[in-house]
Amino acid sequence: MGIHPVFRQFLHADSGAFAYLLADTVTGAAVLVDPVLGDVPLYHRAMRENRLRLERVVETHLHDDHVSGAWVLHVGTGAPIAAGSRAGIEVAQHRLEDGETLAFGGESLQAISTPGHTAGCMSFLWRDRVFTGDTMLIGGCGSAEPPQGHAGRLFDSLTRHLMTLPDETLVCPGHATGRRRVSCIGEERLLNPCLAGKSRDEFIAGVRAALRVAPVARDIHLTVNARGGDPEGARPVGPPHELARADYH
Ligand SMILES: [Fe+2]
Repeated sequence: MGIHPVFRQFLHADSGAFAYLLADTVTGAAVLVDPVLGDVPLYHRAMRENRLRLERVVETHLHDDHVSGAWVLHVGTGAPIAAGSRAGIEVAQHRLEDGETLAFGGESLQAISTPGHTAGCMSFLWRDRVFTGDTMLIGGCGSAEPPQGHAGRLFDSLTRHLMTLPDETLVCPGHATGRRRVSCIGEERLLNPCLAGKSRDEFIAGVRAALRVAPVARDIHLTVNARGGDPEGARPVGPPHELARADYH
Protein backbone atom coordinates (compact mmCIF):
# COMPACT_ATOMS: atom_id res chain seq x y z
CA MET A 1 0.00 0.00 0.00
CA GLY A 2 1.38 3.38 -0.99
CA ILE A 3 1.87 5.92 1.74
CA HIS A 4 0.25 8.84 -0.04
CA PRO A 5 -2.41 7.70 -2.43
CA VAL A 6 -4.09 10.14 -4.76
CA PHE A 7 -7.72 10.91 -3.98
CA ARG A 8 -9.62 13.45 -6.05
CA GLN A 9 -13.32 14.16 -6.17
CA PHE A 10 -14.85 15.78 -9.27
CA LEU A 11 -18.27 17.41 -9.22
CA HIS A 12 -20.00 17.47 -12.60
CA ALA A 13 -21.77 20.81 -12.45
CA ASP A 14 -24.64 20.04 -14.83
CA SER A 15 -25.81 16.82 -13.20
CA GLY A 16 -24.42 17.07 -9.66
CA ALA A 17 -22.70 13.71 -10.15
CA PHE A 18 -19.46 12.97 -8.30
CA ALA A 19 -16.61 11.06 -9.88
CA TYR A 20 -13.48 9.92 -8.07
CA LEU A 21 -9.86 9.43 -9.05
CA LEU A 22 -7.85 7.09 -6.83
CA ALA A 23 -4.29 6.06 -7.36
CA ASP A 24 -1.31 4.31 -5.90
CA THR A 25 1.49 6.85 -6.27
CA VAL A 26 4.21 4.20 -5.93
CA THR A 27 3.20 2.42 -9.14
CA GLY A 28 1.11 5.19 -10.73
CA ALA A 29 -1.86 2.83 -11.08
CA ALA A 30 -5.16 4.75 -11.10
CA VAL A 31 -8.88 4.02 -10.97
CA LEU A 32 -11.77 6.28 -11.93
CA VAL A 33 -15.10 5.69 -10.22
CA ASP A 34 -18.25 6.88 -12.05
CA PRO A 35 -16.58 9.12 -14.66
CA VAL A 36 -18.82 11.57 -16.53
CA LEU A 37 -18.32 12.00 -20.28
CA GLY A 38 -18.16 15.80 -20.15
CA ASP A 39 -15.38 15.76 -17.57
CA VAL A 40 -13.08 13.24 -19.26
CA PRO A 41 -10.55 15.99 -20.18
CA LEU A 42 -10.35 16.95 -16.49
CA TYR A 43 -9.57 13.38 -15.52
CA HIS A 44 -6.86 13.11 -18.17
CA ARG A 45 -5.29 16.33 -16.95
CA ALA A 46 -5.33 15.18 -13.33
CA MET A 47 -3.74 11.87 -14.32
CA ARG A 48 -1.10 13.62 -16.41
CA GLU A 49 -0.26 16.04 -13.59
CA ASN A 50 0.16 13.16 -11.16
CA ARG A 51 1.90 10.87 -13.67
CA LEU A 52 -0.75 8.21 -13.37
CA ARG A 53 -1.85 5.40 -15.64
CA LEU A 54 -5.51 4.47 -15.72
CA GLU A 55 -5.88 0.79 -14.91
CA ARG A 56 -9.60 0.48 -14.30
CA VAL A 57 -12.85 2.32 -14.84
CA VAL A 58 -15.45 1.44 -12.22
CA GLU A 59 -19.18 2.10 -12.42
CA THR A 60 -21.29 1.90 -9.27
CA HIS A 61 -24.42 1.42 -11.40
CA LEU A 62 -26.22 2.25 -14.62
CA HIS A 63 -26.71 5.99 -14.30
CA ASP A 64 -29.82 7.76 -15.53
CA ASP A 65 -28.87 11.37 -14.81
CA HIS A 66 -25.71 11.87 -16.87
CA VAL A 67 -23.74 10.25 -19.67
CA SER A 68 -20.93 8.01 -18.51
CA GLY A 69 -17.35 8.56 -19.60
CA ALA A 70 -16.48 4.88 -19.17
CA TRP A 71 -16.35 3.85 -22.81
CA VAL A 72 -14.35 6.86 -23.98
CA LEU A 73 -11.83 6.30 -21.20
CA HIS A 74 -11.62 2.61 -22.02
CA VAL A 75 -10.98 3.33 -25.69
CA GLY A 76 -8.44 6.04 -24.86
CA THR A 77 -6.43 4.12 -22.30
CA GLY A 78 -7.26 0.44 -22.65
CA ALA A 79 -8.41 0.33 -19.03
CA PRO A 80 -11.16 -2.29 -18.59
CA ILE A 81 -14.59 -1.28 -17.32
CA ALA A 82 -15.78 -2.96 -14.13
CA ALA A 83 -19.37 -2.96 -12.86
CA GLY A 84 -21.75 -5.18 -10.97
CA SER A 85 -22.77 -8.31 -12.83
CA ARG A 86 -26.41 -7.18 -12.69
CA ALA A 87 -25.77 -3.53 -13.55
CA GLY A 88 -26.90 -3.87 -17.15
CA ILE A 89 -23.69 -2.28 -18.46
CA GLU A 90 -23.13 -4.35 -21.58
CA VAL A 91 -19.62 -3.15 -22.30
CA ALA A 92 -18.21 -4.00 -18.86
CA GLN A 93 -15.33 -6.42 -19.30
CA HIS A 94 -15.23 -7.17 -15.59
CA ARG A 95 -18.58 -8.12 -14.06
CA LEU A 96 -18.29 -8.00 -10.34
CA GLU A 97 -19.89 -10.10 -7.64
CA ASP A 98 -20.30 -9.17 -3.99
CA GLY A 99 -16.99 -9.23 -2.10
CA GLU A 100 -14.76 -9.21 -5.16
CA THR A 101 -11.56 -7.22 -4.94
CA LEU A 102 -10.18 -4.94 -7.65
CA ALA A 103 -6.45 -4.41 -7.34
CA PHE A 104 -4.59 -1.40 -8.72
CA GLY A 105 -0.90 -1.21 -7.88
CA GLY A 106 -0.60 -1.86 -4.17
CA GLU A 107 -4.16 -0.70 -3.53
CA SER A 108 -7.49 -2.47 -3.77
CA LEU A 109 -11.18 -1.73 -3.89
CA GLN A 110 -13.69 -4.13 -2.44
CA ALA A 111 -17.08 -4.49 -4.14
CA ILE A 112 -20.14 -4.58 -1.91
CA SER A 113 -23.42 -5.49 -3.54
CA THR A 114 -25.98 -2.80 -2.57
CA PRO A 115 -29.06 -3.24 -4.79
CA GLY A 116 -32.19 -1.14 -4.41
CA HIS A 117 -31.57 2.14 -6.24
CA THR A 118 -31.06 -0.16 -9.23
CA ALA A 119 -30.90 -3.94 -9.31
CA GLY A 120 -27.16 -3.96 -9.97
CA CYS A 121 -25.78 -1.25 -7.67
CA MET A 122 -22.37 -1.84 -6.14
CA SER A 123 -20.61 0.19 -3.47
CA PHE A 124 -16.83 0.10 -3.19
CA LEU A 125 -14.76 0.16 -0.03
CA TRP A 126 -11.27 1.66 -0.26
CA ARG A 127 -9.09 2.26 2.77
CA ASP A 128 -11.13 4.43 5.20
CA ARG A 129 -13.91 5.34 2.76
CA VAL A 130 -16.77 3.88 0.82
CA PHE A 131 -18.05 4.95 -2.59
CA THR A 132 -21.77 4.55 -2.28
CA GLY A 133 -23.00 5.56 -5.74
CA ASP A 134 -26.62 6.65 -5.35
CA THR A 135 -27.37 4.07 -2.65
CA MET A 136 -26.39 6.31 0.27
CA LEU A 137 -26.25 10.06 -0.22
CA ILE A 138 -25.35 12.73 2.31
CA GLY A 139 -28.57 13.17 4.27
CA GLY A 140 -30.50 11.10 1.77
CA CYS A 141 -30.56 8.08 -0.47
CA GLY A 142 -31.16 7.40 -4.13
CA SER A 143 -34.56 6.87 -5.63
CA ALA A 144 -36.06 3.41 -5.55
CA GLU A 145 -38.63 3.75 -8.25
CA PRO A 146 -39.85 0.54 -9.77
CA PRO A 147 -39.15 -1.08 -12.10
CA GLN A 148 -35.39 -0.41 -11.75
CA GLY A 149 -35.53 0.34 -8.04
CA HIS A 150 -36.83 -1.56 -5.05
CA ALA A 151 -37.30 0.29 -1.75
CA GLY A 152 -37.11 -2.80 0.47
CA ARG A 153 -33.84 -3.90 -1.07
CA LEU A 154 -32.48 -0.37 -0.79
CA PHE A 155 -33.27 -0.38 2.94
CA ASP A 156 -31.61 -3.78 3.34
CA SER A 157 -28.50 -2.63 1.47
CA LEU A 158 -28.26 0.52 3.56
CA THR A 159 -28.84 -1.11 6.93
CA ARG A 160 -27.07 -4.44 6.44
CA HIS A 161 -24.16 -3.53 4.21
CA LEU A 162 -23.38 0.17 4.61
CA MET A 163 -24.57 1.14 8.09
CA THR A 164 -22.66 -1.83 9.50
CA LEU A 165 -19.34 -0.27 8.45
CA PRO A 166 -17.39 1.47 11.23
CA ASP A 167 -18.77 4.91 12.21
CA GLU A 168 -15.65 6.70 11.04
CA THR A 169 -15.84 5.28 7.50
CA LEU A 170 -16.05 8.23 5.13
CA VAL A 171 -19.05 8.27 2.80
CA CYS A 172 -18.23 9.38 -0.74
CA PRO A 173 -21.55 9.56 -2.57
CA GLY A 174 -22.22 9.42 -6.30
CA HIS A 175 -24.41 12.47 -6.31
CA ALA A 176 -24.49 15.82 -4.53
CA THR A 177 -27.48 16.59 -2.33
CA GLY A 178 -26.29 19.99 -1.14
CA ARG A 179 -22.96 21.69 -0.74
CA ARG A 180 -21.30 18.97 1.28
CA ARG A 181 -18.81 16.69 -0.41
CA VAL A 182 -18.27 13.92 2.15
CA SER A 183 -19.88 12.46 5.25
CA CYS A 184 -19.28 9.44 7.47
CA ILE A 185 -21.28 6.36 8.39
CA GLY A 186 -21.77 7.43 12.03
CA GLU A 187 -23.23 10.75 10.97
CA GLU A 188 -25.57 9.19 8.44
CA ARG A 189 -26.73 6.64 11.00
CA LEU A 190 -27.66 9.43 13.41
CA LEU A 191 -28.88 12.15 11.09
CA ASN A 192 -29.91 10.79 7.71
CA PRO A 193 -33.64 11.52 7.63
CA CYS A 194 -34.30 8.60 5.29
CA LEU A 195 -32.92 6.16 7.82
CA ALA A 196 -32.58 7.47 11.35
CA GLY A 197 -35.12 5.76 13.57
CA LYS A 198 -36.99 4.31 10.61
CA SER A 199 -38.34 0.79 10.43
CA ARG A 200 -38.18 -1.04 7.11
CA ASP A 201 -41.88 -0.37 6.51
CA GLU A 202 -41.52 3.31 7.38
CA PHE A 203 -38.58 3.60 5.03
CA ILE A 204 -40.49 1.96 2.19
CA ALA A 205 -43.48 4.22 2.81
CA GLY A 206 -41.36 7.34 2.96
CA VAL A 207 -38.77 6.78 0.27
CA ARG A 208 -39.01 9.41 -2.40
CA ALA A 209 -37.66 9.72 -5.89
CA ALA A 210 -34.82 11.99 -4.85
CA LEU A 211 -33.00 11.88 -8.15
CA ARG A 212 -35.91 11.91 -10.54
CA VAL A 213 -35.01 13.34 -13.92
CA ALA A 214 -37.12 13.96 -17.00
CA PRO A 215 -38.25 10.53 -18.27
CA VAL A 216 -37.03 11.13 -21.82
CA ALA A 217 -33.54 12.19 -20.75
CA ARG A 218 -33.49 9.32 -18.34
CA ASP A 219 -34.25 6.71 -20.99
CA ILE A 220 -31.59 8.14 -23.29
CA HIS A 221 -29.05 8.04 -20.49
CA LEU A 222 -29.91 4.44 -19.64
CA THR A 223 -29.57 3.34 -23.25
CA VAL A 224 -26.30 5.17 -23.85
CA ASN A 225 -24.83 4.17 -20.51
CA ALA A 226 -25.53 0.50 -21.13
CA ARG A 227 -22.76 1.02 -23.73
CA GLY A 228 -20.54 2.81 -21.21
CA GLY A 229 -21.65 6.22 -22.46
CA ASP A 230 -20.63 5.57 -26.08
CA PRO A 231 -23.22 7.42 -28.18
CA GLU A 232 -21.95 5.81 -31.40
CA GLY A 233 -22.36 2.33 -30.06
CA ALA A 234 -25.62 3.04 -28.30
CA ARG A 235 -28.58 1.11 -29.52
CA PRO A 236 -31.76 -0.04 -27.89
CA VAL A 237 -30.73 -2.84 -25.61
CA GLY A 238 -34.06 -3.76 -24.14
CA PRO A 239 -35.23 -1.85 -21.15
CA PRO A 240 -32.96 -2.17 -18.11
CA HIS A 241 -36.08 -2.63 -16.04
CA GLU A 242 -36.47 -6.09 -17.58
CA LEU A 243 -33.35 -6.97 -15.68
CA ALA A 244 -34.67 -5.44 -12.50
CA ARG A 245 -38.04 -7.06 -12.87
CA ALA A 246 -36.52 -10.50 -13.35
CA ASP A 247 -34.37 -9.86 -10.34
CA TYR A 248 -37.09 -8.96 -7.97
CA HIS A 249 -39.45 -11.78 -8.67
FE1 LIG B 1 -28.36 6.70 -10.07
